[in-house]
Formats: sequence, C-alpha cells, structure tokens
Amino acid sequence: MGRVGQALTRLVLGHGRRLRLQYACLADSTGFVWLAEETSDEALRELLVHKENGRKLVDQPLGHRHGELSPIEQADGLEGPVVLVDCTASDEMTPMLTEARQQGTHVVLANKLPLVGPLARYQALTGQAPGELRYEATVGAGLPVIRTMEGLLATGDEIQSVQGCFSGTLGYLFSRLEDGVRYSAAVRDAWRQGYTEPDPREDLGGLDVARKALILARRIGCAWELHEVAVEPLYPAEMSELSLEEFLQGISTLDDLYAQRLAESQAQGKTLRYRAQVSGSGCQVGLAAVAQQGRLGALRGPENIVVIRTGRYSATPLTIAGPGAGPEVTAAGVLSDILDIVGKG
Ligand SMILES: NC(=O)c1ccc[n+]([C@@H]2O[C@H](COP(=O)([O-])OP(=O)(O)OC[C@H]3O[C@@H](n4cnc5c(N)ncnc54)[C@H](OP(=O)(O)O)[C@@H]3O)[C@@H](O)[C@H]2O)c1
Repeated sequence: MGRVGQALTRLVLGHGRRLRLQYACLADSTGFVWLAEETSDEALRELLVHKENGRKLVDQPLGHRHGELSPIEQADGLEGPVVLVDCTASDEMTPMLTEARQQGTHVVLANKLPLVGPLARYQALTGQAPGELRYEATVGAGLPVIRTMEGLLATGDEIQSVQGCFSGTLGYLFSRLEDGVRYSAAVRDAWRQGYTEPDPREDLGGLDVARKALILARRIGCAWELHEVAVEPLYPAEMSELSLEEFLQGISTLDDLYAQRLAESQAQGKTLRYRAQVSGSGCQVGLAAVAQQGRLGALRGPENIVVIRTGRYSATPLTIAGPGAGPEVTAAGVLSDILDIVGKG
C-alpha cells in the first residue's frame, strides 16, 4: 500500500468496481487488514485515506500484525480467481509468491526484486504452476513491453535483441544536459524535485536499469545472474563511500567529463543516452552515443523506449515508447495484468 498500491486501490474503487473486482486483503510493512467479510467501498476508501495520510495498517482497528494470520490460508476460502499483487520494493515476499502460485493463487508483480534474485529462485517462481504470474509493470510501468514480447514468442517469432532507455530519471538528466545544464546542476535539480530516489546514487548507479534489462533477458531465455549484467555507473566507485551531502557537493567534479562526452558525441551528430542492450550474447547497461535523429536520440525527458528486433521485425524494429514511471501508469499496468487473469477465470 505504497504509492503504486494506493494508485491501484483508487483505480479499483473507480474503474475496477465496474469489473467486479474485490479486495480481500491489504498489506503494508507492518501488517494487513483482512477485508473479505467487509466488502463495502466505504471500508476500502477509509483504509486508502489511512495510508495516504502516511499511517500504518497495524494501527487501524481491523489491522493484524504479519504472522498473526496467514492471508494465503485465509484466501483458500474465497470464491473465484484470487490474485496476490506485490507492490512492495522488498524480496521478503518471494517464497510466499512461489508458494501461492503452487496453491493456485495468481501473482502479479510491480516489484522487480522477485525476478532478479538468484536463478534457482527465479526458476522456482516462474516455473509451471496452477497460478499464473504476470509482471508487466516491472519494465516500463504501464507500457505493454512484456505482453508484446510474450505475444511475439507465442506466435513463433524469435527475439534477437531488445534495447532502450528504461529510466525516466536518467532520461530527464540527459535532456537537461542537452539543454546546456551542467551534470551536477541537473542531478541536484532532479533530486530537489523528487525525480530521483532519496539518494540519487541509486538511479545514477544503473542498478535499477540493470534489473529491468535482466528481467527482459531472462524472459527471452537467457539464464543469467544480475552480476553478469555489465553496468556503467554515472559516478566513480570511490564516491559510493561519501555521505549524501558530500556526494551532492562532490558531483561538480564530474561536470567537465560529461560536458566533454556530450560535446564529442554532438560533434558526430549524436547525443548521449543511458542505454540498456539485451541479446543472446550479453546484457549491457551504460552511457552510449546514439544518433540524434534515431529512436533513442529523439526521446525527450523522462520517457522510456523499448526497441525490439525480431525475425519478423528485423529491418524496422518494433518500438514501444511513453511514460515509464509514475504510480498511476504503473497501477494501470498492474490492473491490466489482473484483468487478463480474471478475464480468463
Ligand atoms: N513508483 C513507480 O513509478 C514505479 C514504477 C514501476 C515499478 N515500481 C515498483 O513498484 C514497487 C512499489 O513502488 P512504490 O513507489 O509504490 O514504493 P513505496 O511507496 O515505497 O511502497 C512500498 C510499499 O510496500 C510496503 N511493504 C514493504 N515491505 C513489505 C512487506 N514485507 N510486506 C508487505 N508490504 C510491505 C510498504 O509498507 P509501508 O507503507 O508500511 O512502508 C509500502 O506500502 C517497487 O518495487 C517499485 O520498484 C514503481
């Protein structure tokens, strides 16, 4: 019940109601509320307001601490298809997700972590099971990336490579650089406006993009671990040790480096993008000089783009672009996964 979980609840209270969706249980880091008996919109709306006000579910009159009851066991008594939705940023839930699928509960993820852990755990989670697994929102938020890839694979196409820009924050940063803003000023502005994680090194380190690239690589059959993704961070390793304040001050030392890299690429009719590349031969994430008029070069601000080259889409690759972050579009991606599943039920 964080930003995405709350946006999903708002969607269900609005559009989802017409689709006869019903929440049985809501959870946060402290505990959960079992709602299966309490089906009124009013009860759900009250819980939403409680979370929107930054409060914890365990402090709610209906709240239980984790461990007091098993929501999965409770779900056994429910009628119709049951979907467990993970909108956390924690991998604590992964064993529960795997077990839930084995017991016939469907699983939908906005959370990338269950998909990027050790390969054996990934295979256990994604293997054959009575419950379905969907994770559209993990790459490109609401953009139809995974379902497009699955449609290609299901119809016998061969995905040769996937490349793109999967970070709205880094897209914003490089658009500012193109506007003539210094690297440190662009990072500090993005941080002040809340476009980055609380510590911007989480974005600049490239790990989030590497996770998305690994999710796509594993989906096309590459049995790789996260450490096998080559990642180029946008700051030197020694700056990892600095406090946040020291980092935000020290980052000015990188201004000339990135100004020079941009000027060199522009002299060749190119620009800089933080690009992910996935193919059977490897997975790389880092800064690349790309044609200014090309698909990646034409991208502006925080948009995401995914370019899929296949046997059928060979000369002109299949391209998906649009906003790739934000609670509302992410929740819409989650909801479309849920509807795909319950529509079959
Ligand atoms: N925001 C986006 O634009 C976006 C886009 C695509 C994907 N995602 C992914 O979606 C996920 C959620 O993002 P967010 O922005 O909504 O994060 P968030 O605001 O930090 O919300 C995370 C939620 O997970 C809850 N939580 C943490 N540990 C838990 C546990 N063990 N059991 C149950 N609940 C637990 C937290 O509880 P408390 O409320 O008690 O802290 C919080 O409600 C992340 O994995 C993120 O990477 C986000």
